[in-house]
Amino acid sequence: MFIVVGVTGGIAAYKAVHLVRLLVGAGHDVHVVPTEEALRFVGLPTWEAISRNPVTTSVHDDVPRVRHVALGQRADLVIVAPATATTLASMAAGLASDLLGTTLLATKAPVVVAPAMHTEMWRHPATMANIATLKERGVHVVGPADGPLTGGDSGPGRMCEPEEIVAAALAVVRPRDLEGVVVAVSAGGTREPIDPVRYIGNRSSGKQGVAIARAAADRGATVLLAAANIEQAVLAEAGPCEVTPVGSAAELGEVMRGFAAQADVVVMAAAVADFRVKEVADGKLTKESGGIPTLELTENEDILAGLAADRRPGQVIVGFAAETARGAELLERAVRKRRRKGVDLLAVNEVGWEKGFETGDNRIFVLDAHDEVVADVAGSKREVADGLLEAVAALRR
Ligand code: CTP
Repeated sequence: MFIVVGVTGGIAAYKAVHLVRLLVGAGHDVHVVPTEEALRFVGLPTWEAISRNPVTTSVHDDVPRVRHVALGQRADLVIVAPATATTLASMAAGLASDLLGTTLLATKAPVVVAPAMHTEMWRHPATMANIATLKERGVHVVGPADGPLTGGDSGPGRMCEPEEIVAAALAVVRPRDLEGVVVAVSAGGTREPIDPVRYIGNRSSGKQGVAIARAAADRGATVLLAAANIEQAVLAEAGPCEVTPVGSAAELGEVMRGFAAQADVVVMAAAVADFRVKEVADGKLTKESGGIPTLELTENEDILAGLAADRRPGQVIVGFAAETARGAELLERAVRKRRRKGVDLLAVNEVGWEKGFETGDNRIFVLDAHDEVVADVAGSKREVADGLLEAVAALRR
C-alpha cells in the first residue's frame, strides 16, 4: 500500500519513527511528510533512512511532478501521527499552508489521526470542536491515551503507541469480508518421532500460515489455527486466533478433521511429512543399541486430499504447494497437484523465489478449480496472505 505518514511538531514525533518502521517492515511504500516544526524534533535524514523514500516539507520541491497534490492523490491511506492541536485546527479549517496541508486536501484516501498534546489543550473546546468536525468528515481518530506527558504531567493527551496506531489504521482500509465465517488454518511443519528424543522434521517456520490466520481474523473471521511446532515469537502474531498446538502429521490430521467439521474455509499451509517412521523406538537409540540403525518409513495419510474428499457443500478447501520446478513445468506440476488433491484453490509457492527467510518475503500464484491463475502475489508474508484471502473471499462471493 502507498501510505503517507504526516508527522507534526510534538515530542511524540520520535515515536513516529517506530510507526514508519512498522509500516515499512510490513511491506508498505511509506512517504513521510513532516511539518517544519516536526523537523525540530526529528531530522529529515532519519525520515528518509527509515522510510527509504525521499522526504520534503515544502510545496516548492519537486514542482514538475506536482508533489503538493501527487502524494495525496496516490495515497491509499494517510496517517497523521502525532497530530498536534495546531494540525487538528488546520485540518478542520482546511488550510493548505504546507505540504502536509495540501496532501490532506488532495487525498480521497482514509485519514487516521493520532492526537498528542497536553490534557488542557486536548480538552479545550476549540480542540474538541475541531475533532468533532474531523470525525464528521470521516477522519478516524486514534487516542489520545491517558498517561505521562512531557514535563511530568499525566492525563489524556499522550499519543497512542505506534503498534496500536498501525493496527487501527490498517483496520480502516481492510475489508471485513470474512465476518461470521469460520476459517481453519494449519501452519508450521510436522515432526515425525524416531525415538523419544529425535524426529524427522522440516524447515517450515509457520510464518506464512500464521500470517494467513491473522489476516483472516483481521477480515472478521473466527480462526481455528493448528500450529505444528511453531516458535512462540511467530505464534504471537496470530493475535485473536484460537491456537491448538500439534506435533506429528497424525495429530495434525485429527485436529484438522475436527476443525473442518465447523469451518467454512480450510487452508492447509502446514508442511506435512509424507512419511513417518514405521516403528518408533520406545527408548533412545544409542550406539550400543547395535550398529547403525535403519529407519523403515511408512506413508502418512494425505490430510488435505481427505478434507477435500469429505468437504461439505459450499466449504472452500485451500492447499499449498512448495515447488522447486520452474516455468511451464511448475504450472504443469501445480495443475496435477491441484487435481490430485481435489482442492478449490492451490497456492503455489516457488521455493527459492524468496530472497531469504530474514526478509519474510514470499511469492505465490493461486490456481482455481478450473486451473486458472486467479492471483499472483509477491511481497511480505502478510501481503501474500491478504492476496490469498482475496481469492478465497472472491470465490465465496
Ligand atoms: N499435505 C497434507 N498431507 C500430507 C502432505 C501434504 O495435507 N501428507 C498438504 C500440505 O499441507 C499442502 C499440500 O498438501 O497444503 C501440498 O503439499 P506438498 O508437500 O506440496 O504435496 P505432496 O502431496 O507431498 O506432493 P509432493 O511432495 O510429491 O510434491
